[in-house]
Amino acid sequence: MSMPSGDESKRVASVVGVSRRNFLRNVGAAAVAAELLDAAGTARGSSQAMDAPVAGPSPEVVSGATSISLTINGQARSVSVEPRTTLVSALRDRLEPALTGPKLVCDAGTCGACTVLLDGRAAYACSLLAIDMVGRSITTVEGLGTPDKLSPVQAAFCEKDAMMCGFCTSGFVTTVTGVLTKNPNATPEQIREGCKGNFCRCGTFPHIFEAALAAGAEMRKES
Ligand code: FES
Ligand code: FES
Repeated sequence: MSMPSGDESKRVASVVGVSRRNFLRNVGAAAVAAELLDAAGTARGSSQAMDAPVAGPSPEVVSGATSISLTINGQARSVSVEPRTTLVSALRDRLEPALTGPKLVCDAGTCGACTVLLDGRAAYACSLLAIDMVGRSITTVEGLGTPDKLSPVQAAFCEKDAMMCGFCTSGFVTTVTGVLTKNPNATPEQIREGCKGNFCRCGTFPHIFEAALAAGAEMRKES
């Protein structure tokens, strides 16, 4: 219950014809009565009290830097994070050695440059807290292939020249990998739909989708 301000209480008191002191005394008495009624209801086990959630153990409060273990590209990696540290920041700025494949561009969950696979599904690493990722499987573009053995999607992006400045590329490669792993037969429409959370400012979309289709064909051959 919000208490009226001094001017408001004077105004209310003058309207109803009671003194300001009596008005405040009555307001205070009503608040105390409400507290007593609430306490009595709880003690009696009223239906309202019984419906209330049972208090469990207090959630763990984490503050300052804390060390956590994340499963990244199939390996357990220790990293020191604060509760506010995003996943992309943990990967790029706090991990040793860093994983800089996911790019920080918009930092607002709109461009897809920071995309990682989270339990196989594309996710914006700028919009996730690192501390919430314990127990999840995180895959970055670095975990998809190696320079000596590129993944089918990575190889197709090179072959089809599907990049210009490259800022969006790791996000697209990761997203397309997620789409094709789930469905190597994905149609052009399904690939476009799967990539709708990624944005290429250089406008290489035709090459990107061409590469995705080529990668799907390659993955079907391999499976
Ligand atoms: S940087 Fe994460 S969506 Fe743009
Ligand atoms: S290649 Fe430059 S943003 Fe996509």
